[in-house]
Amino acid sequence: MNYQPFIGKTAIVTGSANGIGFAIAKHLLHEGANVVVNDIDTEAADLAADRINKSCEYCDARAYAFAGDAGDPEFIRKMVAFAADIKDSKLDMIIANAGLTEFGDFFEFSPESFQKVVDLNLRGTFFLAQTAAKLMKKQGGGGNIVLIGSNVGARAYDNLAAYGMSKAGISMLAKQLVLPLGPLGISINCVSPGATLTERTKLEEPDYAGIWAKLNPNGRVGKPEDIAHTVSFMLSPQSRHITGQTLLVDGGWTAYGPTPFTAARMQNDLPNGADMPNVSVQDS
Ligand SMILES: NC(=O)c1ccc[n+]([C@@H]2O[C@H](COP(=O)([O-])OP(=O)(O)OC[C@H]3O[C@@H](n4cnc5c(N)ncnc54)[C@H](O)[C@@H]3O)[C@@H](O)[C@H]2O)c1
Repeated sequence: MNYQPFIGKTAIVTGSANGIGFAIAKHLLHEGANVVVNDIDTEAADLAADRINKSCEYCDARAYAFAGDAGDPEFIRKMVAFAADIKDSKLDMIIANAGLTEFGDFFEFSPESFQKVVDLNLRGTFFLAQTAAKLMKKQGGGGNIVLIGSNVGARAYDNLAAYGMSKAGISMLAKQLVLPLGPLGISINCVSPGATLTERTKLEEPDYAGIWAKLNPNGRVGKPEDIAHTVSFMLSPQSRHITGQTLLVDGGWTAYGPTPFTAARMQNDLPNGADMPNVSVQDS
């Protein structure tokens, strides 16, 4: 049996039918928490909750699917009320994971695409934090909110201006909220993944793992479990004095690393077959 610090607690994880959110939800259940698996895709949310429940024979806690748009404040209110009603369990952990990555040339980027990014990444994150914090304030005893940012909120990246701006905003929100939430015993932090191998990123680029193993200074691509472990630490009593922070989980890329586009540009500019910094893959 795993270490189970979250028995008697409920967590909401938005956008958790796949990818990073799924790994976070599964991990939290194994560590004792009841988990609300939110996704905009109803069928995928049901399937994910079922898979998570079946993954843990010894767990008394359960995963509950709750489908809907994590960018919609009215839906968020219903989801928080649903989670707060789970029997013998306290809703005091929130993971605002759902986020939209919309690539596009800055000069061509449309107001509609911009709005979609802002609605989910900023409005959804802001109002989930607000709605959950209101409940935590009412029930007393503090709580813990983790916002999922991105390495692209810390460094410029080709064709991701609106997304990068939104993720930098999420990181700033974690700082801002120490003022209203700190006195209530509610921690708020941002965990920012670097390039992480998920169903979506693999679909975008079949050799996603190989490319990022070369670009990341530590020689490997991120796995959803890397983010799940970090979120778990941020929610645990061990991190109780950490709030308002952004933790990058990126294999060192933000400290020093090119994007695939800059790498290609550099390749062309380098003299006589010189290669990109030579890093080897350490694990898979
Ligand atoms: N994967 C990466 O490399 C990476 C890197 C940096 C940051 N991130 C961030 O991590 C988070 C998760 O990324 P991912 O790659 O696992 O996500 P993803 O794109 O694979 O999406 C995960 C889930 O979110 C759901 N979703 C989409 N819109 C939704 C909405 N409006 N409401 C509820 N659910 C919705 C999707 O159906 C999907 O199941 C995002 O915030 C993303 O920006 C990811």
